[in-house]
Amino acid sequence: MSDKLNETRRYLEQHHGGDGAKAAAKTVSTHERNHDTDFWAFWHAHTPSSGALNIADLGCGPALFLKQLASKHPDYSLTGIEIAPYMLAHIDECPSNLDIRIADLNSPGENVFAQHSLDACLANMLIHELFQPVMLFRALRNWLKPGGILILTDMVRQPLDTFLRHKFPQVDFATAPLNAPDMNDSFRDYFEHNRYSAEDIANLLKLCGFEIVAQETLRESRATRIAARNP
Ligand SMILES: C[S@@+](CC[C@H](N)C(=O)[O-])C[C@H]1O[C@@H](n2cnc3c(N)ncnc32)[C@H](O)[C@@H]1O
Repeated sequence: MSDKLNETRRYLEQHHGGDGAKAAAKTVSTHERNHDTDFWAFWHAHTPSSGALNIADLGCGPALFLKQLASKHPDYSLTGIEIAPYMLAHIDECPSNLDIRIADLNSPGENVFAQHSLDACLANMLIHELFQPVMLFRALRNWLKPGGILILTDMVRQPLDTFLRHKFPQVDFATAPLNAPDMNDSFRDYFEHNRYSAEDIANLLKLCGFEIVAQETLRESRATRIAARNP
């Protein structure tokens, strides 16, 4: 494994709370919420609906989304990209049309996918975990077919006090006893999950040459969902 890949893995393990197995279990338990009826409606409204499609899930975690697609569409070619060993460990048996590849999406080489090979891509809750998304967006312009679609969902910036109240619902910050390590972790957590506004993500995609087809607000403005087209 390269030093860069290991550096990303170390960062992610800390970002995921220092307990990879617990983080992977949480990803499994939140799968339904992250891929609910509204998600599937958005997916079907903006991605191609016919043909033997070539589809990738970037930061696929335990690959549950891809396994769902595989069982509905045995003719699709599906690829998951993942880096965290504890997420990879949760992907046991793969259907024959699902391939899992290990790559660092902070600096994906041009040849993770062949040029203009993908019909659609999902990046669900990935972007805030990258050191920066520009190199991925540029690579995606190359991997997606002309007219190919990226569906992106992610957490977006919320006011710091709202975040703290959500994290410590019972705590009176003026009077309750607090401890510094918990506060240190909370502030690190805040900055790692609140990197971008919804507009930042859309504007970064446009900067990298994508067209925004649709954008919606989720979870009381704490998340955004975007469909972006490779012209
Ligand atoms: C919040 S989880 C979401 C997992 C899955 N997309 C879902 O919605 O259930 C983000 C995933 O992206 C992966 N990830 C983060 N940074 C990555 C990188 N640089 N390269 C590849 N995968 C990455 C993480 O390991 C994790 O599995």
